[in-house]
Amino acid sequence: MYICICNAIRETDLRRAACEQRGDAEALYARLGFAPQCRQCLEEAEEIVTEARSCLAV
Ligand code: FES
Repeated sequence: MYICICNAIRETDLRRAACEQRGDAEALYARLGFAPQCRQCLEEAEEIVTEARSCLAV
């Protein structure tokens, strides 16, 4: 599933990036080589980043 339609960023790619790197969703987008466009995905993207990292802490 795509989390960011504008940049065609998949949820799985964002989760992987969140586990491997620091920064908020926008920073992770940048590390993947993208920048937010419409920004409508960022709230959900932040939730995914937080969720991915909380699983790491277990
Ligand atoms: S859906 Fe992510 S920037 Fe538009």
